[in-house]
Amino acid sequence: MNNHVKKYTAITGASSGIGYATAIEFAKRNKNLILIARRESQLETLKQKIAELNPNLEIIIKICDLSQADNVFSLFKQLDSYYIETWINNAGFGHYGSVKDQDLDKIQSMLHLNIEALTILSTLYVHKYHHQSGTQIINISSRGGYTIVPNAVTYCATKFYVNAFTEGLAQELRQAKAKLTAKVLAPAATQTEFGQKANNVNEYDYNKSFSQYHTAEQMAGFLMALYDSDNIIGEISTKDFSFTLKDSILPYSGNAAENQKS
Ligand SMILES: NC(=O)c1ccc[n+]([C@@H]2O[C@H](COP(=O)([O-])OP(=O)(O)OC[C@H]3O[C@@H](n4cnc5c(N)ncnc54)[C@H](OP(=O)(O)O)[C@@H]3O)[C@@H](O)[C@H]2O)c1
Repeated sequence: MNNHVKKYTAITGASSGIGYATAIEFAKRNKNLILIARRESQLETLKQKIAELNPNLEIIIKICDLSQADNVFSLFKQLDSYYIETWINNAGFGHYGSVKDQDLDKIQSMLHLNIEALTILSTLYVHKYHHQSGTQIINISSRGGYTIVPNAVTYCATKFYVNAFTEGLAQELRQAKAKLTAKVLAPAATQTEFGQKANNVNEYDYNKSFSQYHTAEQMAGFLMALYDSDNIIGEISTKDFSFTLKDSILPYSGNAAENQKS
């Protein structure tokens, strides 16, 4: 790749919460941005804020409902002419409620967004950038993807998928000596619009539901620490809410001790 090619960081779900705060962190690092979500007005506000912070950056806005697979393929195609050095799959939502009572329209949309869109975008990104130095894919999962949270079983299951897929992809890329690295961020409770959407309410008080939580800005700071590191996982401890960088959490059977021939 020509070193003078203009580079971009793409962030899905940049219109609020962790994605919005992460866009500001990348702007502080002089990164041109591709901001993706459904709500254009929020993305325009963010673009304006970044322009005041760092007027030299190019900020591309893409309006896309990622819960529709056709849109996901078409989005990646539309971005073909940009050199994307970092891709962040952050868009996602949760659902609080028992499986017995869950609304399947919402659940199907969650499966499409949290699992299908993330898998399609990760795969297309790997196809195109696996041999490009300095490239990264960061998938936003959850601590709820390493432990089952009562009343959030289906959401947690989507994030178990994200953790398994991304840890596995990271191992696969390392073994293939690819130049692209894959990483996963596993936040715990973070004050964003997540609580409202997971509970189907217009207002949600994090103080009433959690004794501890992070702000979106703190979580974006942890994401940057993961981005700067050579580790695969950035995880929040649900015990003391500390942030730790790790190389693996899930068992991995890619070795002779696990009955695999090399
Ligand atoms: N907050 C927490 O406690 C917490 C904890 C663990 C993990 N997480 C994970 O962190 C990530 C970010 O969530 P957040 O906490 O920042 O929540 P948030 O404030 O609700 O942000 C979610 C983002 O996803 C976008 N999005 C939702 N549906 C979409 C769709 N169909 N197509 C495209 N974009 C869509 C939203 O934008 P539009 O509505 O404009 O489309 C928004 O920008 C999620 O993957 C979530 O699962 C959050």
